[in-house]
Amino acid sequence: MSQQLSHEQLVVLAHQFGTPLYVYHAEKIKEQYDKLLTSFKGVDVRFFYAAKALTNINILRYLKSTGCNIDCSSINEAKLAVIAGFAPSDILYTSNNIAFEEIEEAQRMGIHINIDSISNLRKFGQKFGHSYPVGIRLRPNIMAGGNLKISTGHADSKFGVPLEDIEEVLQVIKETGLFIRTLHIHTGSEIKDVEVFAKGIEVLFEMVKYFPELAIIDLGGGFKVPYKPGDEGTDIELLGKKVKEEFEWFEKKYNRHLQVWFEPGKYLVSEAGYFITKVNVLKPAGNAVFAGVDTGLNHFIRPMFYGAYHEIENISNPSGDKRSYNVVGNICETDTFAENRSLPEIREDDYLVFLNAGAYCFEMSSHYNSRFKPAEVMVKDGKPILIRKRDDLEDLLKGQPEIIF
Ligand code: LLP
Repeated sequence: MSQQLSHEQLVVLAHQFGTPLYVYHAEKIKEQYDKLLTSFKGVDVRFFYAAKALTNINILRYLKSTGCNIDCSSINEAKLAVIAGFAPSDILYTSNNIAFEEIEEAQRMGIHINIDSISNLRKFGQKFGHSYPVGIRLRPNIMAGGNLKISTGHADSKFGVPLEDIEEVLQVIKETGLFIRTLHIHTGSEIKDVEVFAKGIEVLFEMVKYFPELAIIDLGGGFKVPYKPGDEGTDIELLGKKVKEEFEWFEKKYNRHLQVWFEPGKYLVSEAGYFITKVNVLKPAGNAVFAGVDTGLNHFIRPMFYGAYHEIENISNPSGDKRSYNVVGNICETDTFAENRSLPEIREDDYLVFLNAGAYCFEMSSHYNSRFKPAEVMVKDGKPILIRKRDDLEDLLKGQPEIIF
């Protein structure tokens, strides 16, 4: 039985901590990580949590306690990982278009680095030669992912070194003595089809022959989780089997062992997250009713930015008669969370919860309209722990000196 927080529990938390409120369920994160471990049994695999999905330091500490490794997309995430207790050998930095100085900083930290441009590879080789193993982020020219904004491996994508440029990469290695230990791809987010991962493996296996010191194939993240009722996520068990088969085949055929890495973000934290809001006002809206809640795109931007669907539940009146609602925010923008959504009758002051609020939700929030960022709570062993206080006016003024004009 999958781990879930009940409506009653969420209502109690809304009363206790106020709204809008992010709630994360620790046991659900653990359940997802355990599912990965079981599904990949017998595979030489390492999982690196893609921290960009949710970087609250106590979420990072919790993931560390499960035994998971961590993947970072900025030097600051890498620094947070260190603060959370990860050893350098368990931290991966997969960069995109970053300054060489940042790569040098990552090198000084002693963490794993995937480099995604020929110019930075050349600089790295010129400076460190063979002394520090690195990975190359390749662009596999595969179109995949929930929508174009979250597709990263296709032929027009800004991410990675295009496969076509392999000759130039080899030239740089020859000139500088670079030690290439990893080949990396990340094709996109919300990839349901196991065959897409299989295609990625195939593309990378083709490349292995060019890299005699290669030890790791890093397939990035992108496992899909269900968002809508009836949605199916990536079949992780099937993926585990497929990866096992492919890597065993490769090892037999070429007498070369390769370790496989993954960088799941959504898979680990999306479903563990709940975003609770309170209904401020009701207004007529054609055939529907506007339910204006105490939050907006400043706190939860996925529906507006990606057209993402998030399931919404009325947790304080779950058995009310169903009606059609436009759930909208309180920001001076058209911030529609859901249109014509059938929900149990909403009354002013009811609490609504947005599901799948663990990944890229708080993390993409802002202070727009000078509103406070929400508080974050982790529920572990049935008990709530405040892991970020709600902002106050000081947070809005932070870093801005008082200048008298
Ligand atoms: N590895 C790399 C190199 C990535 O760029 C990403 C995500 C991941 C791993 C983790 O992907 P995941 O397993 O979470 O799908 N803000 C968007 C998603 C952007 C993903 C960016 N890269 C959203 O809310 O859908």
